[in-house]
Amino acid sequence: MPETSIGNAWRRASQRIGRLDARLLLERVRGCSHADLIAHPERSMTEDEASRFEALVSRRAAGEPLAYLLGSAWFGGLEFAVGPAVLIPRPETELLVDLAARRARTLEKPRIADLGTGSGCVAVLLALRCPQADVTAVDISAAALEVARANAARHGAAVRFLEGDWYAPLAGERFDLIVSNPPYVADGDPHLGMNGLPFEPRQALTDGVAGGDGLGCIRRIAAPAARHLEPGGWLLMEHGYDQAAKTRKLLSEAGFREIASWRDGAGIERVSGGQRPPDVDCLPAA
Ligand SMILES: C[S@@+](CC[C@H](N)C(=O)[O-])C[C@H]1O[C@@H](n2cnc3c(N)ncnc32)[C@H](O)[C@@H]1O
Repeated sequence: MPETSIGNAWRRASQRIGRLDARLLLERVRGCSHADLIAHPERSMTEDEASRFEALVSRRAAGEPLAYLLGSAWFGGLEFAVGPAVLIPRPETELLVDLAARRARTLEKPRIADLGTGSGCVAVLLALRCPQADVTAVDISAAALEVARANAARHGAAVRFLEGDWYAPLAGERFDLIVSNPPYVADGDPHLGMNGLPFEPRQALTDGVAGGDGLGCIRRIAAPAARHLEPGGWLLMEHGYDQAAKTRKLLSEAGFREIASWRDGAGIERVSGGQRPPDVDCLPAA
């Protein structure tokens, strides 16, 4: 086999970053399928392909997430474009979408808001699964919204995208359902230095409060939520593995009823939510 054959490049890269990641990067560089790699390991790579592959393997070896190198990630059975401006969608967030879709399907023409939309994965999936819904997505990052808009267009999802700080672009608006996967890692948490997190946008991961409990954004979403919900409307928020009890307390302080938490596929309480009481005027001031 020639030195620059696909087979040799794959074998050498596998020793550095593992067989699967090496394969996926090689397929991306060659624009070929897994079957092509298996069937023709003797085929030569061009100099350009070899150097592009080597650069990607080195970035992966330095800890950069595979999804950023491939430029996409899968969520809810769909492929979403991702880049350094957005959080890579996590499988556990599908619970938030499933719970929201279940509620939305019981309503005729629900208005749904997705706060902190990032890649748009939650909003796009909800718009596709509940075509009768009117979906609005908010993010403070203009760069993230650009990615989200492209993802909505790619999947033909009708979503209204707004830039701003949580409810700021939603003044005077009410929804039947507010969903959010907000940043919830405490600033200074050692996990921020692990598992590719240093490559993801800090603004998508933490509430920016040094030494805090990571719940700053959840507080800011929960407190005024009832004023943006129709009577009987629901707020559903994803949170950290150890934040369910505190999130339920925040929902209770914000006047919510029917408060509950739901477990993800790993058995961890991952989403908490509650229902807006009929009379908002009796709620504590936001
Ligand atoms: C954890 S990411 C979630 C992204 C996406 N919804 C998902 O589940 O993959 C949180 C998102 O909230 C956005 N964000 C952070 N602070 C915000 C704020 N004050 N107002 C609106 N969005 C904010 C970030 O830019 C980021 O896209």
